[in-house]
Amino acid sequence: MTLLSDLVFWWPRPDPVVGRAATADCDDLAAIHAASFHRGWGAEDLAAMLTEASVIAHVVRRRAAAPAAGFILSRIAGDEAEILTVATAPRLRGRGYAGRLIAAHLPDLMRAGVRKLFLEVEAENAPALKLYARAGFEPIGRRKGYYRTAQGAADALTMRRMLPAI
Ligand SMILES: CC(C)(COP(=O)(O)OP(=O)(O)OC[C@H]1O[C@@H](n2cnc3c(N)ncnc32)[C@H](O)[C@@H]1OP(=O)(O)O)[C@@H](O)C(=O)NCCC(=O)NCCS
Repeated sequence: MTLLSDLVFWWPRPDPVVGRAATADCDDLAAIHAASFHRGWGAEDLAAMLTEASVIAHVVRRRAAAPAAGFILSRIAGDEAEILTVATAPRLRGRGYAGRLIAAHLPDLMRAGVRKLFLEVEAENAPALKLYARAGFEPIGRRKGYYRTAQGAADALTMRRMLPAI
Protein backbone atom coordinates (compact mmCIF):
# COMPACT_ATOMS: atom_id res chain seq x y z
CA MET A 1 0.00 0.00 0.00
CA THR A 2 1.21 3.48 -0.81
CA LEU A 3 2.25 5.40 2.25
CA LEU A 4 0.63 8.78 2.61
CA SER A 5 4.10 10.38 2.75
CA ASP A 6 4.96 8.83 -0.66
CA LEU A 7 1.72 10.14 -2.09
CA VAL A 8 2.40 13.64 -0.77
CA PHE A 9 5.93 13.50 -2.22
CA TRP A 10 4.81 12.50 -5.72
CA TRP A 11 1.64 14.57 -5.94
CA PRO A 12 2.35 17.56 -8.23
CA ARG A 13 2.31 20.91 -6.46
CA PRO A 14 -0.20 23.41 -7.83
CA ASP A 15 1.35 26.40 -9.57
CA PRO A 16 1.76 29.35 -7.22
CA VAL A 17 -0.43 32.38 -7.86
CA VAL A 18 0.89 35.96 -7.90
CA GLY A 19 -1.34 39.02 -7.56
CA ARG A 20 -1.49 42.52 -6.14
CA ALA A 21 -1.27 42.72 -2.33
CA ALA A 22 -4.37 43.88 -0.45
CA THR A 23 -4.82 45.23 3.07
CA ALA A 24 -6.47 41.91 3.97
CA ASP A 25 -3.03 40.29 3.46
CA CYS A 26 -1.26 42.55 5.96
CA ASP A 27 -1.23 40.18 8.95
CA ASP A 28 0.38 37.47 6.80
CA LEU A 29 2.82 39.96 5.28
CA ALA A 30 3.82 41.23 8.74
CA ALA A 31 4.47 37.66 9.90
CA ILE A 32 6.65 36.97 6.83
CA HIS A 33 8.51 40.25 7.32
CA ALA A 34 9.12 39.61 11.03
CA ALA A 35 10.47 36.13 10.22
CA SER A 36 12.78 37.58 7.54
CA PHE A 37 14.28 40.78 9.00
CA HIS A 38 15.64 41.98 12.34
CA ARG A 39 13.19 44.86 12.39
CA GLY A 40 9.86 43.58 11.15
CA TRP A 41 7.16 45.90 9.81
CA GLY A 42 3.83 45.74 11.64
CA ALA A 43 0.55 44.95 9.89
CA GLU A 44 -0.58 48.56 10.42
CA ASP A 45 2.58 49.98 8.83
CA LEU A 46 2.08 47.67 5.86
CA ALA A 47 -1.58 48.59 5.53
CA ALA A 48 -0.65 52.29 5.52
CA MET A 49 1.96 51.69 2.81
CA LEU A 50 -0.52 49.77 0.64
CA THR A 51 -2.87 52.77 0.61
CA GLU A 52 -0.12 55.02 -0.83
CA ALA A 53 -0.63 55.69 -4.54
CA SER A 54 3.14 55.46 -5.08
CA VAL A 55 3.42 51.94 -3.63
CA ILE A 56 3.06 48.75 -5.67
CA ALA A 57 3.11 45.38 -3.91
CA HIS A 58 2.56 41.79 -5.00
CA VAL A 59 1.98 38.61 -3.04
CA VAL A 60 2.61 35.01 -4.02
CA ARG A 61 0.34 32.25 -2.73
CA ARG A 62 0.82 28.50 -2.96
CA ARG A 63 -2.61 28.38 -4.61
CA ALA A 64 -5.52 30.80 -5.08
CA ALA A 65 -7.03 31.93 -1.74
CA ALA A 66 -4.11 30.49 0.29
CA PRO A 67 -2.35 32.85 2.73
CA ALA A 68 0.56 34.88 1.36
CA ALA A 69 3.78 32.86 1.02
CA GLY A 70 5.90 35.88 0.08
CA PHE A 71 5.68 39.46 -1.08
CA ILE A 72 7.49 42.33 -2.76
CA LEU A 73 6.88 46.05 -2.27
CA SER A 74 8.25 49.07 -4.14
CA ARG A 75 7.80 52.80 -3.88
CA ILE A 76 7.76 54.94 -7.05
CA ALA A 77 9.06 58.51 -7.39
CA GLY A 78 8.83 59.86 -10.93
CA ASP A 79 10.52 57.47 -13.33
CA GLU A 80 12.46 55.81 -10.51
CA ALA A 81 11.42 53.23 -7.93
CA GLU A 82 13.01 51.35 -5.08
CA ILE A 83 12.24 47.81 -4.02
CA LEU A 84 11.79 48.33 -0.28
CA THR A 85 11.34 44.69 0.58
CA VAL A 86 11.06 41.19 -0.82
CA ALA A 87 10.61 38.19 1.43
CA THR A 88 9.43 34.59 1.31
CA ALA A 89 8.17 32.68 4.35
CA PRO A 90 11.21 30.72 5.65
CA ARG A 91 9.75 27.24 5.15
CA LEU A 92 8.76 28.05 1.54
CA ARG A 93 12.09 29.42 0.30
CA GLY A 94 13.97 27.90 -2.60
CA ARG A 95 10.82 27.11 -4.62
CA GLY A 96 11.16 30.04 -7.01
CA TYR A 97 8.52 32.17 -5.29
CA ALA A 98 10.65 35.33 -5.09
CA GLY A 99 11.59 34.91 -8.74
CA ARG A 100 7.89 34.75 -9.65
CA LEU A 101 7.22 37.86 -7.57
CA ILE A 102 9.86 39.84 -9.43
CA ALA A 103 8.58 38.56 -12.79
CA ALA A 104 5.10 39.92 -12.00
CA HIS A 105 6.27 43.09 -10.25
CA LEU A 106 8.58 44.57 -12.90
CA PRO A 107 5.99 44.80 -15.70
CA ASP A 108 3.61 46.68 -13.38
CA LEU A 109 6.41 49.11 -12.49
CA MET A 110 7.11 49.59 -16.21
CA ARG A 111 3.42 50.27 -16.87
CA ALA A 112 3.60 52.92 -14.11
CA GLY A 113 6.43 54.63 -16.04
CA VAL A 114 9.41 53.40 -14.00
CA ARG A 115 12.68 53.36 -15.98
CA LYS A 116 15.23 52.95 -13.17
CA LEU A 117 14.73 50.47 -10.37
CA PHE A 118 16.99 50.44 -7.30
CA LEU A 119 17.40 48.30 -4.22
CA GLU A 120 19.80 47.85 -1.36
CA VAL A 121 20.95 44.45 -0.17
CA GLU A 122 23.37 43.09 2.40
CA ALA A 123 26.55 42.10 0.58
CA GLU A 124 26.59 38.67 2.30
CA ASN A 125 22.97 37.77 1.47
CA ALA A 126 23.66 34.97 -1.02
CA PRO A 127 20.03 34.02 -1.89
CA ALA A 128 19.07 37.67 -2.46
CA LEU A 129 22.18 38.35 -4.57
CA LYS A 130 21.35 35.33 -6.76
CA LEU A 131 17.76 36.44 -7.07
CA TYR A 132 18.70 39.98 -8.12
CA ALA A 133 21.49 38.93 -10.48
CA ARG A 134 19.09 36.57 -12.25
CA ALA A 135 16.56 39.43 -12.48
CA GLY A 136 19.13 41.63 -14.23
CA PHE A 137 20.22 43.93 -11.39
CA GLU A 138 23.78 45.25 -11.36
CA PRO A 139 25.73 46.58 -8.38
CA ILE A 140 26.35 50.33 -8.63
CA GLY A 141 27.61 51.18 -5.14
CA ARG A 142 28.69 49.85 -1.76
CA ARG A 143 28.20 51.32 1.71
CA LYS A 144 30.79 49.96 4.11
CA GLY A 145 29.42 48.57 7.39
CA TYR A 146 25.91 49.86 6.66
CA TYR A 147 24.02 46.97 8.29
CA ARG A 148 24.38 45.90 11.89
CA THR A 149 24.53 42.10 12.10
CA ALA A 150 25.11 39.46 14.76
CA GLN A 151 28.76 39.36 13.59
CA GLY A 152 29.14 43.14 13.82
CA ALA A 153 28.51 44.89 10.53
CA ALA A 154 28.00 44.08 6.86
CA ASP A 155 28.29 46.21 3.73
CA ALA A 156 25.24 47.26 1.74
CA LEU A 157 25.25 46.93 -2.03
CA THR A 158 23.14 49.32 -4.06
CA MET A 159 21.85 47.65 -7.20
CA ARG A 160 20.06 49.03 -10.23
CA ARG A 161 18.10 47.64 -13.14
CA MET A 162 17.13 49.83 -16.09
CA LEU A 163 13.64 49.13 -17.43
CA PRO A 164 12.46 49.71 -20.99
CA ALA A 165 9.63 52.12 -21.74
CA ILE A 166 6.41 50.31 -22.64
C1 LIG B 1 15.94 36.35 -0.71
C2 LIG B 1 14.62 35.58 -0.66
C3 LIG B 1 13.48 36.58 -0.83
C4 LIG B 1 14.57 34.56 -1.81
O1 LIG B 1 13.27 33.97 -1.78
P1 LIG B 1 12.99 32.53 -2.45
O2 LIG B 1 11.53 32.44 -2.65
O3 LIG B 1 13.66 31.47 -1.69
O4 LIG B 1 13.74 32.75 -3.84
P2 LIG B 1 13.77 31.78 -5.09
O5 LIG B 1 13.33 30.40 -4.70
O6 LIG B 1 13.04 32.48 -6.20
O7 LIG B 1 15.33 31.70 -5.38
C5 LIG B 1 16.06 32.82 -5.76
C6 LIG B 1 17.49 32.43 -5.97
O8 LIG B 1 18.12 32.23 -4.69
C7 LIG B 1 18.74 30.94 -4.67
N1 LIG B 1 18.67 30.47 -3.29
C8 LIG B 1 17.57 30.12 -2.61
N2 LIG B 1 17.93 29.76 -1.36
C9 LIG B 1 19.28 29.88 -1.30
C10 LIG B 1 20.25 29.68 -0.28
N3 LIG B 1 19.87 29.29 0.97
N4 LIG B 1 21.55 29.93 -0.54
C11 LIG B 1 21.94 30.36 -1.77
N5 LIG B 1 21.06 30.57 -2.78
C12 LIG B 1 19.75 30.34 -2.54
C13 LIG B 1 17.94 30.11 -5.61
O9 LIG B 1 18.71 29.01 -6.08
C14 LIG B 1 17.65 31.10 -6.71
O10 LIG B 1 18.75 31.27 -7.57
P3 LIG B 1 18.73 30.59 -9.02
O11 LIG B 1 17.50 31.14 -9.68
O12 LIG B 1 19.99 31.08 -9.63
O13 LIG B 1 18.64 29.13 -8.78
C15 LIG B 1 14.46 34.78 0.67
O14 LIG B 1 15.64 34.06 0.90
C16 LIG B 1 14.15 35.65 1.86
O15 LIG B 1 12.98 35.96 2.14
N6 LIG B 1 15.19 36.04 2.62
C17 LIG B 1 15.01 36.90 3.79
C18 LIG B 1 14.64 38.29 3.39
C19 LIG B 1 15.69 38.90 2.47
O16 LIG B 1 16.89 38.76 2.69
N7 LIG B 1 15.20 39.61 1.45
C20 LIG B 1 16.06 40.33 0.51
C21 LIG B 1 16.48 41.60 1.17
S1 LIG B 1 17.16 42.73 0.04
